[in-house]
Amino acid sequence: MKRRGFVKLCATAVAGVTASPQLLASTGQEYHRYGRVALIDSHTREPVKAAALDVGETYIFHYPFVSTPCFLIDLGKSVKAKVNLQTREGKRYRWQGGCGPGSSVVAFSAICAHKMSHPAPSVSFINYRHGETRFRNSNDEIEQRPGVIYCCSEKSVYDPAFGGRVLGGPAPQPLAAIDLEFDEGEDAFYATATIGGEMFERYFASFHDRLVLQHGRTDIDSVMSGSTELLRLRDYTQNAVNCQA
Ligand code: FES
Repeated sequence: MKRRGFVKLCATAVAGVTASPQLLASTGQEYHRYGRVALIDSHTREPVKAAALDVGETYIFHYPFVSTPCFLIDLGKSVKAKVNLQTREGKRYRWQGGCGPGSSVVAFSAICAHKMSHPAPSVSFINYRHGETRFRNSNDEIEQRPGVIYCCSEKSVYDPAFGGRVLGGPAPQPLAAIDLEFDEGEDAFYATATIGGEMFERYFASFHDRLVLQHGRTDIDSVMSGSTELLRLRDYTQNAVNCQA
């Protein structure tokens, strides 16, 4: 069997998008294709294998640009639900679920959809909580449940098992999702696109000077190519802030 026979396109099949108007309709226009970038271990520089991911851990990688952080999470459960979502402007799109052997791996832009709080080496106010977490939901009620992405800046809460939809707080749209591809033959993950409301232009404009210092380069808006390092949030930042309602 040819190697491509093993490739599993997880969130959205861009080849299919090109070929199938029906699939294009299901994913909507908020699909932004970038390069096919391999996720590699930050220590070994080898492709990250599915079995090496710890369930519930918050991992970080940069995509689609060299300075835009993303979360990768193995939720530890199959996530096959397709979710219809919309951006702040009302543009509709469909998130196609988890990736990997158990359809349990998801990825999102780690830039909060409210005021763009994001992980940095000095501090991260936004992270994934695998355990029970209390938060104030969209009905302004206290709710407790596991498996949420929580931004402590103004307490926006997102559901990574439902495409990053907003569960509570001031965020006006879901987190943008990252389209992943899992190659079963290679046992390797690739990032290929974003789905949903991107905020990258505002992000570059708002944080330009700090990002230049942090990344040691002026071309912070260069598109990532080839490979991107995956590492644990706790190894990336000195201070992962935890908060609850
Ligand atoms: S920046 Fe995340 S809630 Fe305001």
